[in-house]
Amino acid sequence: MASSLDTVAHDILIGNDLGGYTIPTKGLYPYQWNWDSVFVALGFATFDLNRAWRELETLFEGQWTDGMLPHILFRKNDPGYFPGPDVWKTTHEPFPTSGHSQPPVAAIVVRDLYEQSPTPENAARAKALFPKLMAWHRWWATYRDPSGEGSVAIIHPWESGRDNLPDWDEPLSLVDTSGIEAYERKDTTHVDASVRPRKLDYDRYMAILQSGRAVGWDPVKVVENSPFLVADPAITMILLRANRDLLALAASLGIDEAKAEIEGWIARLEKGAASLWNEEVQAFTTKNLRSGVRGAGVSSAAFLAPFAGVGTPDQLAAMRAHFDRIAAKATFTVPSYDPDYPGFEPMRYWRGPIWAVVNYMIARGLAESGDAERSERVRADTERLVALSGFAEYFSPIDGTGAGGRSFSWTAAVWLAWVSPQRQVQAA
Ligand code: GLC
Repeated sequence: MASSLDTVAHDILIGNDLGGYTIPTKGLYPYQWNWDSVFVALGFATFDLNRAWRELETLFEGQWTDGMLPHILFRKNDPGYFPGPDVWKTTHEPFPTSGHSQPPVAAIVVRDLYEQSPTPENAARAKALFPKLMAWHRWWATYRDPSGEGSVAIIHPWESGRDNLPDWDEPLSLVDTSGIEAYERKDTTHVDASVRPRKLDYDRYMAILQSGRAVGWDPVKVVENSPFLVADPAITMILLRANRDLLALAASLGIDEAKAEIEGWIARLEKGAASLWNEEVQAFTTKNLRSGVRGAGVSSAAFLAPFAGVGTPDQLAAMRAHFDRIAAKATFTVPSYDPDYPGFEPMRYWRGPIWAVVNYMIARGLAESGDAERSERVRADTERLVALSGFAEYFSPIDGTGAGGRSFSWTAAVWLAWVSPQRQVQAA
């Protein structure tokens, strides 16, 4: 028997489905978002595998000819969202998109969907997506790791998917906002301004966006021209994990010709992830490639090491110590930023709150590495958060208050795919 929360989660996905693609939530995010859609596919896969594939197929309709998969697909104009297609001014057909990407989780889920039911029909769907995944991963390797050192850089905080992380403060402080055009935010008309990025941050976001637009979103020039270029451990580790899954998928689909290229990416990313170890913080942190300055605190990315299969025994022991310290301090795990850090804000965007999808990746990695106890702590905390505050966009780690958008698709999706007690019974 499905619980009532299972039914609510199911209905959220159905309600946010605009016909083959799903929006994160009505009002605040009225378009198709990249990594949101991928997690949404996992949720659909619990009751409609065909619809799950469809979500990924429609997502890749937004892919650029250079391989980039944008963070937003503007299928229909919605004046309630800013910055919309008229601000980005990209040239993708048949509909416009934003100009940069988002965490590359798609290959992980394509493998999951295929392994859930490896029928000839699903093999055909996975094979059709395979070259698109290759092109996207090649794009990351070519344009976001231009030095070839293996740590993957982002050109905009939005590309990280962790928009307002304290680690972006130092690189953002170097962004000149004197040339930005006048603009009007829409996010604060949907949700309370106190939980959203501040105006100064938003000005800087706009300045970076304008720097990409000024070079026509040419992938080489975007990196040269961006005032913001920061190596991100989360993107690096997610791409590494995604490449491991892509390699396994290639093997099960019999696509031998891709093997060497993917193995090359994996070796490079392993080195890159290792280079983001921060001895002082005892965690994997960001690195500003313009100034050389490292991230100053422990973010939720630090706990993705097992998911990516990186970290020495000592580094993983340090990670577990951070986990236990933070878990003892916060009521709920895993905060997006360390509660012991002076810049921690429990309710402001990516400066403390918990996202269910990040918890999912962290817990999956912990479980795969044999740490059932911490993995279950993260799952049980996520269950308590949803029981307390519903399918919010994110939650306070201190008191569990839900914030941001409501009836949020990816929160509902990971509930169905992982958090739900019913799911645990099925998986047992
Ligand atoms: C915010 C988040 C981003 C997410 C989007 C839609 O911009 O920071 O990660 O994809 O909302 O949910």
